[in-house]
Amino acid sequence: MDHEPVLGELEEDPSLGELYKELQRALEAADNPNGIEEARVAFLGRKGKISSLLQGIKDMPADERKRAGRLANYLKSYAERALEERASSIGRLELEKTLRREAADLTLPGKCIPRGRRHLLSQIIEEIEDIFVGLGYRVVEGPEVELDYYNFEALNTPEWHPSKSLQDTFYVDNPHGDYNDILLRTQTSPVQIRVMEMTPPPLYVISPGKAFRHDVPDATHSPMFHQVEGLAVDEGISLGDLKGTLEYFAKKMFGPERDVRFRPHFFPFTEPSAEVDVSCAMCAGRGCRVCKGTGWLEILGAGMVDPNVYEFVGYDEERVSGFAFGMGVERIAMLKYAVPDIRHFFDNDLRLLKQF
Ligand code: DAH
Repeated sequence: MDHEPVLGELEEDPSLGELYKELQRALEAADNPNGIEEARVAFLGRKGKISSLLQGIKDMPADERKRAGRLANYLKSYAERALEERASSIGRLELEKTLRREAADLTLPGKCIPRGRRHLLSQIIEEIEDIFVGLGYRVVEGPEVELDYYNFEALNTPEWHPSKSLQDTFYVDNPHGDYNDILLRTQTSPVQIRVMEMTPPPLYVISPGKAFRHDVPDATHSPMFHQVEGLAVDEGISLGDLKGTLEYFAKKMFGPERDVRFRPHFFPFTEPSAEVDVSCAMCAGRGCRVCKGTGWLEILGAGMVDPNVYEFVGYDEERVSGFAFGMGVERIAMLKYAVPDIRHFFDNDLRLLKQF
């Protein structure tokens, strides 16, 4: 059907022309889906202008009725179509607007979000824990601010021992009591006493944590460092058990080809005591700069728990025996990964940390 002549006739019509123009204005003004719906109701709703017009036609004189009916019906279907077209063009416009607003330029360079990771020392501690948990040990923790009693006295450390001096230990000012009573623990060994006080034997525990010493920082010293303490107390535990346990640990930690040796040493809380070395990974024991030509690297202190210690915690030294050990986490990390300076661990320079 050719619309134009009918449209022309509509526009010219004295009574429908005005309504037609009104419809055009409403269509132009409607610029969102709500506006379209309002216009639809105003013209085509049950009481809308076009619907009322159509209802009035039957009352017209017969000679006008035919023409008016034709034009009004045409106006109705024109309005339906025009509203639909307007609605869909508004939809397209809205979509275009949204696309423009949310457009992403895929050619822009990405933002680099730095990724964190676990600190090498945390990884080493976790590795040590895994090895001992696999052997049936429990992981326990103790306080970093400690009493002299746990850090020294109950560990059989005499009053005159050099590690108790102000040059070695950070004491905490304590106006309410003995000045020397409270300190930053110099080792994780006090946790041994705390666990034995609370738990009857048998006992298999390790205890990782921070220790503090009045040291001037250099390549191998830091006033704060980490240790992992170990303690096994049971009936019939021997030096052979200690040796076997630490050999197993060293091979798990440093590789199956590593050897372990015990060197006699002194610790107040163990008897006998030893320092434990692993064969140097750099030269496979032949001797190099790292091991200072000896072929061995010290990794920990250990020994059989001194019976005096059992007295402090109320264990029966006739019935039980046990071993203890304490290892430096930084030292192990430095040996395992050839890190040349302990201070690297605490600089928090990501260039170092992200290598592990
Ligand atoms: N606490 C000692 C230190 O810091 C290390 C140590 C040696 C711990 C022998 C022990 C042990 O449990 O039996 O040097």
